[in-house]
Amino acid sequence: MESISKFFGFEDKEKPEDAITMLKADHRKVKELVEKFQKSESRKEQLELLKMIVKELTVHSTLEEELVYPLIDKLEHDKTQEGIEEHHVVRLVLAELYDIPSVDEMIETKVKVLWEMVERHVKEEEGDLLPKLKRSGEDLRALGQQLRNRNDQLTHGVRSISEKSTKKASAARSIAEKTAKKPAATKKRVASKPRKSTSARSRQAG
Ligand SMILES: [Fe+2]
Ligand SMILES: [Fe+2]
Repeated sequence: MESISKFFGFEDKEKPEDAITMLKADHRKVKELVEKFQKSESRKEQLELLKMIVKELTVHSTLEEELVYPLIDKLEHDKTQEGIEEHHVVRLVLAELYDIPSVDEMIETKVKVLWEMVERHVKEEEGDLLPKLKRSGEDLRALGQQLRNRNDQLTHGVRSISEKSTKKASAARSIAEKTAKKPAATKKRVASKPRKSTSARSRQAG
């Protein structure tokens, strides 16, 4: 018989799902968002979807690194480290996409490459790392509750998570834009601003 809480749609808040189910649901959600992005013919809609993809992947990878990977690391150290490195590379691309004002073909290509990386990474997690976590005897419902709590905190603070790398990516982009515009603007611009050191503004995260 259906409970009252389920009828009103808040059963999931009372009875947390297990961590693996939640992580897989995140993976599916991002896949759906990317597919929508790729099918959409509206640049405005694509931009909205892109913001959601960035947010989902940023929060998801942070949750995994804070709460899930440390548990798997004890069982499968090398692959866990590999997974963390893949998160790092994905976050560099996300940082570039974080503040973009509009979507163009170059952004579509970036999303395509990003998704190819994420899809490979997800296959590794679902095919190897998460099954190991399942067999480890960890309390997956308790972990699910931790994920939910941390997710609530992070969802309202995505900017602070990736702010550092986003600033670096934005700085690199603005330098690239200035360089690209320079030939057309040189005749009108007489005064030259003191230039900041570009070496200190490298787009590569440290
Ligand atoms: Fe991951
Ligand atoms: Fe994942």
